[in-house]
Amino acid sequence: MTAVEAPRFSDARLEEIRALVARYPGPRSALLPVLHMAQQDFGYLSAEVQQYVAEVLDLHLMQVREVVTFYTMFREQPCGTYLMEVCTNASCMLNGADDLVRHMCERLGIQVGETTPDGLFTVTEVECAGACAGAPVVQINNEYHEKVDADYIDRFIDNARNKGEEA
Ligand code: FES
Repeated sequence: MTAVEAPRFSDARLEEIRALVARYPGPRSALLPVLHMAQQDFGYLSAEVQQYVAEVLDLHLMQVREVVTFYTMFREQPCGTYLMEVCTNASCMLNGADDLVRHMCERLGIQVGETTPDGLFTVTEVECAGACAGAPVVQINNEYHEKVDADYIDRFIDNARNKGEEA
């Protein structure tokens, strides 16, 4: 059995965190940005990563857990290469978000919250993405895709799969 490596920020990242903490009255104020960094660096916020963030900021694990479990943008499970977050709030719902989610899940053969067996796609539903004029909105990794329909998603999935095959 191989030992699982403990999470560790790079030296550059630790320096960035130190500079960030210095700008706030206390380390707790830096928790949100540091959790974003951790999710970016480690892919998701496992129990080990949350413990590590608590140690880095000299906080109790419970203080970290409160924030991680409150915000939907933080993930406690690994996700696919393409995290497809569909806004299903009012404007997007009125513009077909529910049908879009159904289409994506059928096309990918998964349920909301699941990842395809090839590890490429995860579909989730999120609250208002703040881009209501472009409803329905799907955030894929860090990019917003607006006025998305089934054809658009099909093309995106096909392109992503083709890229995966080329790699
Ligand atoms: S309701 Fe979907 S972006 Fe606002």
